[in-house]
Amino acid sequence: MGNRTTPPAAAEAQPTASLADAAGTSSRSDTSIAEVLGFLGRRYSVGPKYLADPAPSADELRNAAALGLRAPDHHELRPFRFVRVSDAGRDRLAALFAADAARRGQSAAEIERARERAYNGPALLAVVARVHEDVDDVPAHEQWITVGGAVMNFLNALHLMGYGAKVLSGASVRSPDIASEFCQAGEQLVAWIVAGTPTRASHPRSPDQPGTILTDW
Ligand SMILES: Cc1cc2nc3c(=O)[nH]c(=O)nc-3n(C[C@H](O)[C@H](O)[C@H](O)COP(=O)(O)O)c2cc1C
Repeated sequence: MGNRTTPPAAAEAQPTASLADAAGTSSRSDTSIAEVLGFLGRRYSVGPKYLADPAPSADELRNAAALGLRAPDHHELRPFRFVRVSDAGRDRLAALFAADAARRGQSAAEIERARERAYNGPALLAVVARVHEDVDDVPAHEQWITVGGAVMNFLNALHLMGYGAKVLSGASVRSPDIASEFCQAGEQLVAWIVAGTPTRASHPRSPDQPGTILTDW
């Protein structure tokens, strides 16, 4: 586990199975549910500066991505997918980031910083969306909600496994040259996700105000 925050034991081995079991059986332990909920409530983003090896394994990333499929998804359009950047892919991405920064007229120092961003995080993934404007009953905003729900499940899964992660975007996701490397026709490069083992405890940016997000009518 290294420096990773210890997740609740019930969720550690098989997050998907444990949560599904806990929700679906009458023999669930209220203590473990409270623990899992409390743990989810302490998921904060961890930026690349505070992420170290080990990265989530290929299997762990697959499990986390599969939990994305539990996002609410009207008509099962599955308007999202994740793409892991391989080690070799990092070098290619570095060249693309640098070329994009140069194209935007950035300074030599900024171009170098853009290049280095390709090596951010022990694991780096692209979030790709396919949002259709012309689906009966499913307007684009509903599909974006699905994309967001999938990303959230992905982040929560990694958190339950003891990893830290952060969603990042910036100019690179709006570069047609970079997007075309990850996207097929009709798809959009939404963001990057960096993930790894946190080197320090994550923390909230500001205190939550839960009273403002659920009201009665
Ligand atoms: C699509 C998307 C793109 C984001 N891009 C950035 C970014 O480029 N830089 C950044 O600092 N935060 C970015 N964020 C916000 C962070 O991922 C994170 O949510 C924020 O720092 C708040 O941290 P928290 O998750 O601990 O509340 C982005 C969030 C989303 C959903």
